[in-house]
Amino acid sequence: MIERSPHPKGVLERGYVVHQQKCAKCHGHEDPANHDVEELTEDILPAMARKSKLTLADEQAVTAYLLAARQVPRQDQGSR
Ligand code: HEC
Repeated sequence: MIERSPHPKGVLERGYVVHQQKCAKCHGHEDPANHDVEELTEDILPAMARKSKLTLADEQAVTAYLLAARQVPRQDQGSR
């Protein structure tokens, strides 16, 4: 996942930690592959970042993390 993302590794790690700490307390890991990229970046992330009171930098890190995670093939479905 890290190799496939244009973002530096530190940003993705921060996104992962923020997701664990802020997002996962309300719901488990929502599979980002269930949503298309526009939906994630334009609707869902801004709304969820408000719910979690994220800073802009944290919102961007979580966005980068989710977009990278989205490209990881799910084990039950093979690659997309
Ligand atoms: C305060 C609780 C809360 C927090 C914090 C929260 N969520 Fe959510 N999330 C919800 C609820 C409730 C829903 C379903 C209803 C809705 O869309 O508002 C939801 C729905 C979603 C969905 C599905 C949206 C859809 O349209 O199907 C995604 C993806 C998601 N959240 C991701 C995140 C991410 C990423 C974060 C962290 C930045 C986050 N959530 C933080 C409560 C929360």
